[in-house]
This record gives sequence, C-alpha cells and structure tokens, in this order.
Amino acid sequence: MFRLSKLQGFVLMLVLTLVVTACGGADTSEEGASADAGGGSEAAADDGGGGEGLVAVLLPDSASSARWETDDRPAFETAFEELGLSPDDYQIQNAEGDAANQQSQAEQAITNGASVLVLTNLDSGSGAAIIQNAKDQGVAVIDYDRLTLEGDADYYVSFDNEAVGRLQGETLVQCVEEEVDAETPQVAVLNGSPTDNNATLFKNGYDGVINPKFESGEWAEVDDQSVPDWDNQQALVIFEQMLTAADGNIDAVLAANDGLANAAIQALKSANQAGIPVTGQDATVEGLQHVVAGDQCMTVYKSIGEEAQAAAELAVALRDGEQPETDATVDNGSKEVPAVLLEPVAVTDDNIMETVVADGFRTVEEICTGDVADADWCQEQAAGGGASEASS
Ligand code: BGC
Repeated sequence: MFRLSKLQGFVLMLVLTLVVTACGGADTSEEGASADAGGGSEAAADDGGGGEGLVAVLLPDSASSARWETDDRPAFETAFEELGLSPDDYQIQNAEGDAANQQSQAEQAITNGASVLVLTNLDSGSGAAIIQNAKDQGVAVIDYDRLTLEGDADYYVSFDNEAVGRLQGETLVQCVEEEVDAETPQVAVLNGSPTDNNATLFKNGYDGVINPKFESGEWAEVDDQSVPDWDNQQALVIFEQMLTAADGNIDAVLAANDGLANAAIQALKSANQAGIPVTGQDATVEGLQHVVAGDQCMTVYKSIGEEAQAAAELAVALRDGEQPETDATVDNGSKEVPAVLLEPVAVTDDNIMETVVADGFRTVEEICTGDVADADWCQEQAAGGGASEASS
C-alpha cells in the first residue's frame, strides 16, 4: 500500500527530463545535473542565478486546509533555496480566499518583474484571467495543484486526484466493513468546493467506489453536498443539518479533506456520536490526531515536499529560458497541458510511521500532544521503538 518509492520515481523522472532538456539545449547541463542529484546546492546556486525575474507563488487561502501555509509555503522555500534562488528571487503570497486579491497579487508580481507565476487558483474563471494577463506580458505560468480549466498554463503540477478520491472510497469501504454493525450503513458525503476542479476529480474517484454500494442497496446515502470554497464553518453547518435531518442516523462520512472531516467530527462529538468512520485528506496534524484518536478512519498523504519541488524545478527551468519536457499531459478543456502528476498514499493508524513520519512530513511528537497523547497509538510509540523509528 505504501508507495513512497513510486512517488520518488515520479520526481526522479521529472529530474531526469530536466537534465536531458538542459543537456540538449543549453550550457547549464552540469549545473542542472548536480543540482538535481540532491544536495548539490552550490552548483544549483549557479543555475538559479542564470535566469531572470522573480518566481511568484500564488497560494489560495489559509482556511480551506492547513496545508497551504503549513506545508506548501515552507516546501517552496526549501525547494527554491536548494535550486539556488535567493529570497530576492522569489515571493510566496496567499490570496486568503479572495480571487480579486489573487488577481492583484499576480499583477503586482509582474510589475515587480516576475518571469514565472506558480498559481493555485481560487476558481477556474479568475485563474484563467490571471494566466491570460501573465501570458500577454510574456510571463510563464504553472498551475499548481489545481488545474485552471480552459486556461493557458504552460505546465500543471499536481497529484493523480482521481486516485486520491479512490483511496478515500476504498478505505472507507474497509473501515465500514470492520467497524460498522448496521445492517444498511447510512453514509453521508461532504464534497469539496464546486469551483475547485480537484473536488470534481476527488468525487469522480470516490463515487466510482461508493456509488455501486448505494445502487445495490448495500449502503444508503444519507445526503451528498458540496461545501462552497471548502469553507470549514459552512461544512459544520451543512453536516449538523444532515445529522439532524437523519435523526442522528449516520454511520460513516466520506469527507473530501481533513478540514471537512474535522467539521463532521465536531458535529458528531456534540451529538455524542464520534468514533464512526470518517475520511479525510492532506495528512494535517489535526487529521492525523483524529486518526490516532479513532475519530477519523483515514487521511490521504500527498507529498507536498515533492509537489513543491517539482513545481519549483519547472519554474526555475522556465526562468532560465528552458522548456522542460514532462511525461504526462492533462486536457484542461482548451489545450493539453504538460503535467507532472504524483501518487497519493492512504494513511490509517496502521501505516502512519511508514508514511508521513518516515518521510519527515510529520513527527510523533507533533501528533501526540494534549489528550491525543493518551491514545493507544501514541502510547505504543512512546513504549515501543516507534519514536526512534521515526527519526531513522
Ligand atoms: C487540494 C487539497 C485541499 C483543498 C482545500 C484542493 O485543491 O488538492 O489538498 O485540501 O484544495 O484547500
């Protein structure tokens, strides 16, 4: 189930492609090769100095998921530094959920001399406008994590997002089989934002697994609702209403990320019903804490370090005037966008150590805080070799 090496394989493939491209086209092959071999940051420093202009990363918000500020921002800082950019060569901004704000951040970055934008859009319409404006001024754009439908991005870096949804559906099926006694499990579905193409892909993935259960009558669908802008507060209200309308009769929840999962878990706790299978995504500290406490059955780990690194490598290559090749393309409705798609990993309390902890994404210490430290999983790590395994 754990596929870290596959993840690494993808990045390695991108790296090799970049190296090959550099060898074929320019005089930067040695720098490219040593920089990408990992740890060759001095050679990378030369490489990073070769291009011109700012690389501007435009993050969407800090409320729909902890990932953007907690994981993506530091991952980009590390990646740019390793690629030899100085803090003057890049900037990372967050639109805080405001599309107009993101638009002006993009314009400001271009005024300040940006040559590449790395964009996580708030919706495809505003994203496409940002991209068009950038392209008109000769600025390259990478769609980061979220594809801008009918946009003109030069590249797209993300995960196999239907696979994310499939993992959520498949793991929910396992958890329901193991933990739910009800004759016909009553299952509620909380989707992500209708304006986020990823939410559509996640849903395609999990619907493919759970819809057959609903259709055969093995499970009953309590409700299926989308949460505008992935807004965690609205998710709470929506889920409370579902729970009330169902007279409390909900046995499991397909929630599209850890923020929505947390909203459902808070409502279930208020109703003294927590402890049923709930899915999530992002392997946030909070999500993992719910997993070890038994309130959430799984989360999805997406190696944001590798995602940001892949985007940063493309951005630096574009800044250097290269046109790196990728091994995939994705149709955005108006063109085929060269893409890097990484593999997600399902995380349950059985493989936290081998996945997020082994990868250095999370530590046992940050998961096992407060009341969570009393959870069996935390006790086992404290008693056994778990913690030392974590640091190896
Ligand atoms: C990302 C998820 C994130 C969600 C809310 C999606 O586009 O892929 O990782 O949880 O947005 O920010």
